[in-house]
Amino acid sequence: MNALEAISLSSFYGAQKVLENFSITVAPGEFVTLMGPSGSGKSTFLHVATGLVRSAEGQVLINGSDITKMSDSKAARFRRRHIGVVFQAYNLLSTATVEENIVMGVKLDKRPIDKKRLSYLIDKLGLGGLEKKKPDEISGGERQRTAIARALFPEPDLILADEPTGNLDIKTSKDICSLLSEIGKTEKSAILLVTHDPVVAAAAKKVHFIKDGALVKSIETCNDAALVSKAYLETYS
Ligand SMILES: Nc1ncnc2c1ncn2[C@@H]1O[C@H](COP(=O)(O)OP(=O)(O)OP(=O)(O)O)[C@@H](O)[C@H]1O
Ligand SMILES: [Mg+2]
Repeated sequence: MNALEAISLSSFYGAQKVLENFSITVAPGEFVTLMGPSGSGKSTFLHVATGLVRSAEGQVLINGSDITKMSDSKAARFRRRHIGVVFQAYNLLSTATVEENIVMGVKLDKRPIDKKRLSYLIDKLGLGGLEKKKPDEISGGERQRTAIARALFPEPDLILADEPTGNLDIKTSKDICSLLSEIGKTEKSAILLVTHDPVVAAAAKKVHFIKDGALVKSIETCNDAALVSKAYLETYS
């Protein structure tokens, strides 16, 4: 069974068609990226796949369950249990501290807080010393890393991340790609990451290209950023 299987998604904002017959699959433990120009529908796809945009036609099967058919409350619970999401705008709770944001989903589910995992992620994401700070008291990159820690904390089956390294320096960005690869391998999490950065895309096994809301090409990256750049330019020129 695939971790994520989106089948023939179409989505509209008013009269504008944003996704058109968009299909994609991610197997358990697979790390893929999604690239495409600004406005091509990447964030919209992630919002549909997480059950936050409910208007789409088609199916989104996560571990075989169709999130588009669930009620809002069931989709929210399902998301907390199975999907780690890093939103493009982070969506951190401004009144909660870094640490409270990271554990929020697990706490809402009244599940025990794994303190060892919390320390591991705080350390791996370089958030040590910031645990008690609020989102508006830390930098943009620190907020982004808090959002990544929050997505990874519950050991989700599927990680959906929208430009999670967009605000990070080259070294931190590289470290985060390594962390995601490692988590994908050790925890068998499937990862779909949206990025504009060919170096980040090359950290994944496969890259998919979206154009005007449709998936138009997929390639093996061979861990080669130059190959990804070339394919990108060929697709969109
Ligand atoms: N809430 C909304 N209401 C109306 N139109 C929207 C809304 N969100 C996005 N759109 C439109 O849908 C299209 C796709 O937007 P989307 O955010 O999915 O693009 P994207 O590929 O994520 O771009 P970027 O790389 O800039 O993040 C754009 O034309 C955008 O203007
Ligand atoms: Mg976007």
